[in-house]
Amino acid sequence: MQELIYPWIKALHVIAVISWMAGMLYLPRLFVYHCEAEIGSKQSETFKIMERRLLKAIINPAMMVTWLAGLYLAWSGHWFSAGSFHGKFLLVLVMSGVHGFFVRWVRDFATDRNLRGQKFYRIINEIPTALMIAIVILVIVKPF
Ligand code: HEM
Repeated sequence: MQELIYPWIKALHVIAVISWMAGMLYLPRLFVYHCEAEIGSKQSETFKIMERRLLKAIINPAMMVTWLAGLYLAWSGHWFSAGSFHGKFLLVLVMSGVHGFFVRWVRDFATDRNLRGQKFYRIINEIPTALMIAIVILVIVKPF
């Protein structure tokens, strides 16, 4: 039974990962544009709605499904003892931490309390990309 379910959960995991990453790559871009919009302007209010919807409707649920499906795979496939899995797990924890910061920054923008500039969000924008590339290499190539 477990062998039958495993590939389906893996498919669900990859679907959730794609959705989570789509949001994690796009949200900091919105922050970059949002910095340019004047507080109280129509543009700024539109960015608030876009950021909130992206976070609540896509990023948060996708992260939950990624974690639940991933933990099931790790438990049922005995991945906890694999070296490359430890590396992946560490990077996924960092990705989840970055997610936590994004939640905070969406709140800052929503209450017009963002203090950071475009340059900051441009740099931040690269972090989920770098993590995603490293995680996929660890999962597929399994270099150790
Ligand atoms: C949230 C915590 C996560 C856990 C606990 C987890 C765990 C796992 C496990 C145990 C597998 C099965 C490996 C196999 O059967 O070969 C797997 C597959 C996979 N994971 Fe994750 N994962 C997580 C997050 C992520 C993230 C963030 C990404 C990408 C950015 C990712 C990408 C993948 C891919 C591409 C596969 C398919 C690998 C293959 O078929 O060879 N996972 N995951």
